[in-house]
Amino acid sequence: MRKGNSMVAYTGFRAFRNILTACLLLMATHAVADIWEEGDIEAGQALFNANCASCHKVTNEVLAAPGLGGIADRWGATDELLIQWIQNPQGAAESGDKYIKSLVDRYVPTYGWMTAQAVSPDDVKNIMAYVQNPPDAAPVADTGSDCVTVDELPIVENSDSSGVWFLMLLVLFLIIAMAAAGVNRSLTNASLEKEGETLLEDATYSSRVRNWTWDNRVAVTLIGLFFVAYGAVLGYQGLMRVGVVEGYKPNQPVKFIHSVHVCENEVDCKYCHHSAYESKHAGIPSTNVCMNCHKAVKKGRRYGETEIAKIYDAIGFDPTSGTYVDGSGQNGYTSPQDTYDGEPIRWNKVHNLPDHVFFSHQQHVVVGGLQCQNCHGDVETYTVGRVAKVDDINQLVDKYPGLIELSKPTLTMGWCIECHNKAEIDLASSGYYEDIHHRLKDNLRGNEELRKYMEDEKITVKELGGWECAKCHY
Ligand code: HEC
Ligand code: HEC
Ligand code: HEC
Ligand code: HEC
Ligand code: HEC
Ligand code: HEC
Repeated sequence: MRKGNSMVAYTGFRAFRNILTACLLLMATHAVADIWEEGDIEAGQALFNANCASCHKVTNEVLAAPGLGGIADRWGATDELLIQWIQNPQGAAESGDKYIKSLVDRYVPTYGWMTAQAVSPDDVKNIMAYVQNPPDAAPVADTGSDCVTVDELPIVENSDSSGVWFLMLLVLFLIIAMAAAGVNRSLTNASLEKEGETLLEDATYSSRVRNWTWDNRVAVTLIGLFFVAYGAVLGYQGLMRVGVVEGYKPNQPVKFIHSVHVCENEVDCKYCHHSAYESKHAGIPSTNVCMNCHKAVKKGRRYGETEIAKIYDAIGFDPTSGTYVDGSGQNGYTSPQDTYDGEPIRWNKVHNLPDHVFFSHQQHVVVGGLQCQNCHGDVETYTVGRVAKVDDINQLVDKYPGLIELSKPTLTMGWCIECHNKAEIDLASSGYYEDIHHRLKDNLRGNEELRKYMEDEKITVKELGGWECAKCHY
């Protein structure tokens, strides 16, 4: 109990202050209590994709940070601290809150600090609404389970020596047959000698073969004809494969796995091959792009640390301290003192059209609206890149609606031409085509040539000049 009047006044004041703080706190907690309740899911999704999706998933899976699935039940600090954590993680850590301390102890050593996000408290509310109730989570989870996971991916070594084995077996078989014939002859002679009859005449091996052939001339002719026909077919097929590179899949310096990235972790092709949308080339991502995630993801399920360590060697990164090596040029400045002499990763080129051919990705992907799979196959099931086979691509029409089925081997001129013959231009897709379409229609009367094109109301790439030699050849 307090003593004295002044103390009474003081305690009164303190009590009042405490009540006030309590009220304020209550109001505050009330104000943010709906951080987990109301909120615009759609707006939250856009914010999440723009700010958080590069590190977090909305499920429990880890990307470059813990997944945010179930965060509403897990978050153990106040709601203000949640907002503060997102706006300024290190600032929030200074509050000394127990939950945040546990978060830091658990994740910072592996993933580094979360970067501060420029989002308002309202944004956080919307993001949390989305994270708790992601409308697209169900179908995503479904396709996710369709992925060929790392553990299921077959390990295939490129070796095609079956032909050689076949030849060796054939030679071995001939040798055995000749030896057996010799043995057979000796045995016959031995039994003839025993019975006192005249021995077989001492003919040379080749004359005996000649005699045998003559005695069996019909069968030998038939077999010979068969081999000639067989050889002709093989030769024709072989000639048709000249310059065909379907199935080509060179080994790569890092055992990159497309399915892990594209399918299991849902990384878009664009994330790594964005220049396909902006230029002629699709390009191979630089090591910096890998580091966006591999700064945190240091171990893979198939190859452990060895393959990912090659990225670190190339760029100059020390995974134990989580920092770039001095002189690697990655610490925000470049200078002549950047002495780290890591070798860049030298990927082997898989697709390679001859120099006399012009091909532009942007034209096909952006203007033509084609899917990557139409030319590259089901990359989300691949390990390293390879030249897809046209038959495999044709199997994908159910999985990727809108694929154009073709028959000529990929990357040949016939393939380009066949697709230009089949692919229709969506005339409503751009003002440019619409304008041309109107001009064509206006000029139809009396113009046989144009009428021929417009009769079926379809315009293919061919009709726009997709068969002109100079469009594809320098
Ligand atoms: C650059 C990567 C990165 C980005 C971008 C990012 N975070 Fe984080 N986040 C992390 C990491 C890493 C952690 C784990 C703690 C640590 O290591 O700092 C984390 C932790 C969290 C946690 C705590 C998780 C738990 O289990 O309690 C929340 C909540 C969170 N982030 C929300 C967000 C939101 C919301 C956004 C987008 C506005 C976002 N983060 C953007 C990397 C990121
Ligand atoms: C968007 C994030 C992201 C990017 C970008 C990224 N990776 Fe990965 N990578 C991952 C994740 C997640 C894993 C899976 C770790 C696991 O097995 O759980 C992974 C796994 C790997 C593995 C290990 C495979 C295994 O099972 O052993 C290798 C090697 C690899 N990545 C190479 C690369 C290379 C090279 C690049 C750059 C061209 C790259 N990654 C870019 C997220 C990324
Ligand atoms: C119309 C067919 C077609 C489509 C659609 C297509 N590509 Fe290609 N792609 C090619 C051809 C042809 C080459 C070989 C180019 C060369 O050698 O000059 C190639 C090469 C590549 C390369 C090797 C690097 C390079 O630029 O040469 C990558 C990576 C690639 N494509 C990715 C993609 C991605 C990602 C998409 C979807 C956004 C895509 N491609 C869509 C036909 C296509
Ligand atoms: C995480 C980064 C990443 C993502 C995502 C990714 N790729 Fe790749 N891609 C690579 C790397 C690295 C290579 C070089 C190694 C190889 O050939 O596998 C490559 C190679 C390729 C090649 C062969 C390139 C050549 O040399 O001709 C093609 C084609 C390709 N990717 C298509 C795709 C398509 C289509 C997608 C989306 C379905 C995709 N990639 C998604 C990183 C990625
Ligand atoms: C899967 C179908 C497909 C394949 C395969 C294909 N193309 Fe195309 N190509 C298109 C489409 C669709 C367009 C039209 C884009 C547009 O609307 O302008 C086009 C347009 C072009 C153009 C511009 C034509 C013009 O009139 O301006 C060139 C050049 C071209 N392709 C070259 C190639 C080459 C070279 C190859 C083979 C290596 C190839 N294409 C393979 C579908 C294909
Ligand atoms: C749609 C694009 C396209 C058009 C149009 C086109 N070509 Fe080709 N052409 C190619 C491609 C791609 C190759 C490379 C094929 C390969 O490497 O197997 C090629 C190769 C060639 C070759 C080298 C021989 C070979 O098979 O490698 C000659 C010659 C040739 N084209 C002539 C022509 C002539 C003449 C025309 C016009 C009548 C023409 N091309 C129109 C895409 C085209």
